[in-house]
Amino acid sequence: MIIVDTISELKAALARQRSKSPNGFIGLVPTMGYLHEGHASLIRRASNECEFTVVSVFVNPLQFGPNEDFERYPRDLERDAALAERNGAAILFAPSVQEMYPSKPLTRVLISEVTESLCGASRPGHFDGVGTVVSKLFNLVQANRAYFGMKDAQQVAVVQQMVDDLNIPVDIIPCETVREPDGLAMSSRNVYLNAEQRAQALVLSKALDEAGKRLREPEMTAGRLAAEAAGLIRTAPLAEIDYVEVLKYPSLKQLDPDQRLAEINAQLILALAVKFGGTRLIDNRLFQLA
Ligand code: PAJ
Repeated sequence: MIIVDTISELKAALARQRSKSPNGFIGLVPTMGYLHEGHASLIRRASNECEFTVVSVFVNPLQFGPNEDFERYPRDLERDAALAERNGAAILFAPSVQEMYPSKPLTRVLISEVTESLCGASRPGHFDGVGTVVSKLFNLVQANRAYFGMKDAQQVAVVQQMVDDLNIPVDIIPCETVREPDGLAMSSRNVYLNAEQRAQALVLSKALDEAGKRLREPEMTAGRLAAEAAGLIRTAPLAEIDYVEVLKYPSLKQLDPDQRLAEINAQLILALAVKFGGTRLIDNRLFQLA
């Protein structure tokens, strides 16, 4: 694996790889680093399905709000490089902010509607920052396939919308959420949790599992499913709910909260964002009944 931190080195490394295997598929796994088994599963899948895989590690200031954790976002490039290499990456691209944004970018990718609910509503501008950096990475790497985790289901919907709308020549490959043995979805932000918060954060995957068991009840509605999940989450005293919602996926359009789930002929998502102390965790579950 080679590690590059400039765009010119990245392009040279890609050109070398392409001359070795002109028809080989290129895989891209965009990340913000502090890699864990969730990222590793994306890198392994990309490496299995593609001739070579580029992993980017870049904490993108454009997608953080003014009071969010950009400065303190965890970073450990040495460990990330070892994990990426172990899981089959050929190139690790870890640019500085200066390299990605040498001057203030005057161009943004603005994605509407799919960004207006859930995390897009709680974090204004977040998905414009994601869309902008992801399209820069797509243009730089020109990968055939890009791998994204369904833990960030809205991000997958937003990126797929952008790729469709702008005819970006890349296939988006959604990958399953990887969990800790006790069920907590893996996240770089889990390191912020103290022992008590970590223990109570289990309520999130429990609420999704419990909803999974109840969603086939004949009278179950979107409103009730969300309310019951929120009720269970509130049993954890440290949990502060940002949202718990049932929406259509991938459009992320609202549902009639009183309509029976069994009558809705669409894929649905139960999505939640909950704070423990200053740490905001997200998780979700997809389902379709009719
Ligand atoms: P980051 O949070 O580092 O996540 C990078 C990729 O790993 C995303 O596609 C995310 O969905 C996936 N991922 C994170 N936790 C996962 C888990 N437990 N199981 C499976 N996949 C998981 O998402 C971002 O970075 C950024 O927004 C980025 C796309 C890199 C743009 O800056």
